[in-house]
Amino acid sequence: MKFDINAPILVFDSGVGGISVLKELVKVMPHEDFIFFGDSKNSPYGTKPTEVVKKLTIDKVSEYLRLGIKGCAIACNTATSAAVADMRVLFPELPLVGIEPAIKPAALNHPGGRILVMATPITIEGQKLHNQIKLYEDIATIIPLACPGLMEFIEGGKIDSPELIDYLKEHLKEYIENPVDAFVTGCTHYPFVADKISSVLGSNVKHYDGANGTARELKRRLNEAKLLKDSGEGHIKFISSDPSPEKIQQCKTLFNRPL
Ligand code: DGL
Repeated sequence: MKFDINAPILVFDSGVGGISVLKELVKVMPHEDFIFFGDSKNSPYGTKPTEVVKKLTIDKVSEYLRLGIKGCAIACNTATSAAVADMRVLFPELPLVGIEPAIKPAALNHPGGRILVMATPITIEGQKLHNQIKLYEDIATIIPLACPGLMEFIEGGKIDSPELIDYLKEHLKEYIENPVDAFVTGCTHYPFVADKISSVLGSNVKHYDGANGTARELKRRLNEAKLLKDSGEGHIKFISSDPSPEKIQQCKTLFNRPL
């Protein structure tokens, strides 16, 4: 497979959450063109059967490969958990990176501490997360917590709603009573409400996220494949399977929202 250095990089998510990863990608690779594709019409992925998420992800990436991309970031922990291992076999030459919860830095920075990993049910139940937890469970106590319903607040534009605070207070009750040292956002939608999670868990509870590591890893892969641009102005195209103008506007608003 031959890739064109001038082709765009695909950033894929089940919805608008991957924009938290796109922000880091643009920071570390400012000269690149990006296509952000959010599968909002089919979201949420996190409560679907793994095989369904795998097919949705592989079909969409295959489509963009035919159109011409030079690299791909799976900016969705759920799709990474469900599909990236298969994708590496299907597209062995494609510079491809999948996001993973940032358990490693959280554990290393809080030896002996308690780390809460918040993610969708698929990610929490997936083998990938269990393998990752095994690597660090001797360093810190890692507590996986499925958060069904949380991504919907971000996807539905209810980031600043009182209902979100009620959800968090109820869902995180156990960790308000028995505090943790850090929380990991293991779903790319959640960084947009990390300040709300902090306000409920306590401002001294540290937040970790995998977006920056993912962006740096894709840059490394593209550089290795001699596909990295070092000049020129990069552009972003926002595409959603929900083609309403409001969805595209939401993508742009989230992109400009400070995290
Ligand atoms: N943003 C996705 C993730 O990182 C999942 C949200 C969903 O579609 O359930 O896991």
